[in-house]
Amino acid sequence: MTNISSLLSVRNLRVEVGERTVLDGISLDVPAGALVVLMGANGSGKSTLGLTLAGHPRYRVSDGSAQFDGHDLLALKPEQRARAGLFVSLQSPPDIPGVKNGLFLRSALNAIRESRGDTPLDAFDFLKGARGLASELGLDAKLLSRPVNEGFSGGERKRNELLQLAMLKPRLALLDEIDSGLDVDGVRAVVKLVQAMRAQGTAFIVVSHYLQLIESLTPDAVLRLDQGRIAETGTLALAQEIARTGFARNAQVAEV
Ligand SMILES: Nc1ncnc2c1ncn2[C@@H]1O[C@H](COP(=O)(O)OP(=O)(O)OP(=O)(O)O)[C@@H](O)[C@H]1O
Ligand SMILES: [Mg+2]
Repeated sequence: MTNISSLLSVRNLRVEVGERTVLDGISLDVPAGALVVLMGANGSGKSTLGLTLAGHPRYRVSDGSAQFDGHDLLALKPEQRARAGLFVSLQSPPDIPGVKNGLFLRSALNAIRESRGDTPLDAFDFLKGARGLASELGLDAKLLSRPVNEGFSGGERKRNELLQLAMLKPRLALLDEIDSGLDVDGVRAVVKLVQAMRAQGTAFIVVSHYLQLIESLTPDAVLRLDQGRIAETGTLALAQEIARTGFARNAQVAEV
């Protein structure tokens, strides 16, 4: 059954990678403006969920459904998903040699603006906005004129993902370990941006292993993934318990 008040409604999602079933019956609802934290041991399937929702061709959906803002998400191409307002930040953002970062971002932004009926931004207006946001996010604006992620430090890659998020203004963003590799100011920038966008109605699925970030984000729900299934659903208290006791103990609890 689909929850009509949800922006994203995933039902019984089964995902295969090669011969392997990596997600096995995932159901979740994310209302507009909500923030859901996704936790789970390494290899439990968190990034797979993000890449599947984004439409990565390697992740094959063999069962289930995903409705996003009235669309059958799984029937859309990756670029149509982005135009519909979905943004997925990558755990390990790849280099794109030969493609200038600023041009990449402007092309993405203008494609999304066009689908919303807005006029495209010219290079001047784009750069003005992008430089302003880059400065707020602690990202050197010179990185806009380099190839995407090429030679970027770990933290610069993550801040660049944040810049994309801030510019593209999605309706739902899945942030996959956005805090990993970020320094203390970078983590503060994540919290500030997420809270500001949430206040404007953007919903978030945040994948993180770090309680301090999770506490700062005041999540509406915390989910624990275990071997491709949602093993537990709770509130911040669940994240605090996982931080105290670890995933190994949780797995034993689930087996009892
Ligand atoms: N392209 C792929 N080829 C083979 N196996 C894959 C592929 N993508 C994911 N997997 C496997 O699926 C499982 C889930 O991987 P996933 O990256 O989703 O885990 P995760 O929960 O994000 O872990 P982490 O906390 O380490 O980032 C892992 O066992 C992984 O090896
Ligand atoms: Mg991952």
